[in-house]
Amino acid sequence: MQTDKKLSGRVALIAGASSGIGAATALALVEEGASVAIAARRMPRLEALAERIRERGGEVLAIEADVSDEAQAAAMVERAIGDFGRLDMLLCVAGVGVAAPFRNTTTAEYQEMVEVNFLGLLYPIHAALPAMQRQGAGHIVIVSSGTGRYIHPSTVYSGTKHAASAMAESLRREIGRDGIRVTCIEPGAVRTEFTSHMRASVREAVEQRLGDMEQLEAADIAAAILYAVTQPRRVNVNILTLYPTEQA
Ligand SMILES: NC(=O)c1ccc[n+]([C@@H]2O[C@H](COP(=O)([O-])OP(=O)(O)OC[C@H]3O[C@@H](n4cnc5c(N)ncnc54)[C@H](OP(=O)(O)O)[C@@H]3O)[C@@H](O)[C@H]2O)c1
Repeated sequence: MQTDKKLSGRVALIAGASSGIGAATALALVEEGASVAIAARRMPRLEALAERIRERGGEVLAIEADVSDEAQAAAMVERAIGDFGRLDMLLCVAGVGVAAPFRNTTTAEYQEMVEVNFLGLLYPIHAALPAMQRQGAGHIVIVSSGTGRYIHPSTVYSGTKHAASAMAESLRREIGRDGIRVTCIEPGAVRTEFTSHMRASVREAVEQRLGDMEQLEAADIAAAILYAVTQPRRVNVNILTLYPTEQA
């Protein structure tokens, strides 16, 4: 069937798609014709998103997975490839954050941030690379953060995101010759449920810092991701940093 959609016939796995940036990205990719595997821990949220996608005529598979668990991350990738027969894009969006100074972050919170924001990035990539290498093509998109490039008062979270950004650029240099692209997305404040998962005192401090500033929308980040993944294969969009206009 002839179609002018830019991602027709392409398959994307979005890890961390049950809300916010991941969910908006799934919808944006489907709009351009991609088939999507959507993954996260909250299955009811994924099912609701899958329903919206099907209503729009999109092809979708919901997968329950905790990306910080190596076996679950591997099974997630295997399931997506098994169902769709290929994997063109892996989008690593899953993340947690306690945007607090070092001394106001618990060791349990350090551990969760390192496990989800860093290991939760490495495990899916490790599992997806062989298929992309066999295809001689693929695109890995890593959602890091502005706090992975600049310094904001969120010490441990910032450390995990600096690791994500450094890893993205290093990986890009390593696998570009295999035809695999790597893009790092570094947003400033985005209006999602991200802060609602923080401890009350941390959440209140963050909300106070942000004040009445107009934040980015998840759809703004999805549009940036869509830009990166719809470029010709010779173009690797390395890093996109997007901040709210009013954010310092
Ligand atoms: N909002 C911001 O201001 C902002 C700014 C810069 C960067 N970011 C980054 O953007 C990404 C998306 O955040 P968001 O703003 O869209 O927040 P969000 O709505 O809270 O989304 C976070 C997503 O990550 C998933 N997730 C968390 N832990 C997971 C795990 N162990 N395994 C699988 N999935 C997991 C969540 O799903 P489940 O809970 O269902 O598993 C959810 O789908 C994160 O990496 C975040 O660090 C956000």
